[in-house]
Amino acid sequence: MMRTLRLTCEDAESTRDVGAAVGRHAPAGTVVLLQGDLGAGKTVFAQGVGRGLESPTTVNSPTFVLMNEHLAGRLPMRHADLYRLDDLDLIAELGLDQAALGGILLVEWPERGEGALPEEHLHVQITPLADDISEDALDASPRELLLTASGEQAESLLDNLAAQFAAVPA
Ligand SMILES: Nc1ncnc2c1ncn2[C@@H]1O[C@H](COP(=O)(O)OP(=O)(O)OP(=O)(O)O)[C@@H](O)[C@H]1O
Ligand SMILES: [Mg+2]
Repeated sequence: MMRTLRLTCEDAESTRDVGAAVGRHAPAGTVVLLQGDLGAGKTVFAQGVGRGLESPTTVNSPTFVLMNEHLAGRLPMRHADLYRLDDLDLIAELGLDQAALGGILLVEWPERGEGALPEEHLHVQITPLADDISEDALDASPRELLLTASGEQAESLLDNLAAQFAAVPA
C-alpha cells in the first residue's frame, strides 16, 4: 500500500481534480489535513472534495466560522480552519476527533491543532513551485501536492489516487 504520493498541479482546476477524487473515493470517517501557506490552495482542494461528493453547497473558506458543514452530498463533509485558533482548549471544544464520524473531515491549518486531531488521516502538503506567484490571478501557478497516508484507510485511498494521477517519482 502507498504511503506517499507526489503530484504537480499546474493550475487550480488540477488541484480541485485531486480533491474531487478524494471526494469520490474516501470512505466515511476519512480525515484530510490540508497544510500549506496562506493562498497555497487548501480551500481550492476542499472545493474539489465537495465536488467529488456531489455536495450541492458551495465550499468556501471557513476562516471566520471555524467549521462549515456540507451535509447533502454522498457523505457529510465538515470543513474546519484552525488559522484563527491558537488556544488548544478551544480547538478541543470543536470536537475534531469526532467530526469525521460517518463522513469526511477536512482541516486547514492542522499544525495549529496538533494533539486534537485524529492520528489516522491523509495529510496533504501544498507548496507553490513558482517563485513568482503573480500568476495566481490566472488560477494557474504550479503547486506540488505531497500526500501522506497515516493508517490503512488513508493508504488505500492513496492507492486509488495513485491509480488515477500520473505520479512524478518522489
Ligand atoms: N495550481 C494551483 N492550485 C491551487 N490553487 C491555485 C493554483 N494556481 C493558482 N491558484 C490560486 O491560488 C489561490 C488559492 O487560494 P486558497 O483560498 O485555496 O488558499 P488557502 O491555502 O486556502 O489559503 P488560506 O490559508 O488563506 O485559507 C486561489 O486563488 C487559486 O485560484
Ligand atoms: Mg483556505
